[in-house]
Amino acid sequence: MDVVHTVAELRTRLAKEPSIAFVPTMGNLHAGHLALVEEAKRHGTCIVASLFVNRLQFEPGGDFDRYPRTLEDDCARLAAAGCHVAFAPQEKELYPSAQEIVLSPPLAAAQLCGDFRPGHFQGVVTVVAKLFNIVAPHTAVFGRKDYQQLFVIRELVRQLNYPVAIVGVETKREADGLAMSSRNGYLSREERAEAVRLSRNLRRVREGIAAGRRDFDALCEGARADLAGAGWRVDYVELRNRSRLVPPGPADRDLVVLGAAWIGRTRLIDNLEIDAP
Ligand code: PAF
Repeated sequence: MDVVHTVAELRTRLAKEPSIAFVPTMGNLHAGHLALVEEAKRHGTCIVASLFVNRLQFEPGGDFDRYPRTLEDDCARLAAAGCHVAFAPQEKELYPSAQEIVLSPPLAAAQLCGDFRPGHFQGVVTVVAKLFNIVAPHTAVFGRKDYQQLFVIRELVRQLNYPVAIVGVETKREADGLAMSSRNGYLSREERAEAVRLSRNLRRVREGIAAGRRDFDALCEGARADLAGAGWRVDYVELRNRSRLVPPGPADRDLVVLGAAWIGRTRLIDNLEIDAP
């Protein structure tokens, strides 16, 4: 695997590649990221992963500084997974001066995580657009755990005509159901044991709907109350339809329940898709 640190080197390395599948990451890789690489192999002959902690998508006072940087381990994992190129640019090359040109995210970003992380999706779409311009992939692979992000990136590609096929990959979970995330590394032993409560509550909402319940507000309120009762600070637990990411109407069957909540100093997110009967 080639480890490349500059845009010029990367462009030279990729110049003759006929089919590039791209996995953008912020590093600190876990099995969820490696599943993205596995999926990428089905879509291209040259697999490129980027490792870049994007300052622009962290809200003021967020965890940019404490976000784990583990480049050596990440490269070893990527190489073992069959990645061909790891692109780890310096911040001073991607952002040599203040990034004055930024993209305005679509309406779907102005809710859920967008309500609690000001500027987050603007930072995501801006860096993903830059990375697409640099890597020029044919396919890009993202995790479904960041469900709203995936929706927003599909809109980015659709509305700005990027010639990139977007592929979403199922969330990888720990044995107890906790969605894998780099942020799980922040959890103390007690918090880790408690963290499963988020996915457990989302499952309860899904089971309620599968059993025929349509009182969506009450179902979500039940989940929020259970989390809050156990000491979590809940940002949201909400249902959306999958096609437009808006609150579901009575006829909608393609649903997703999304949740974000703080356990101690760590914010966890998760979601579950639901096919209502
Ligand atoms: O999902 C992530 O890790 C990041 O938001 C992404 C897509 C790599 C952009 O920085």
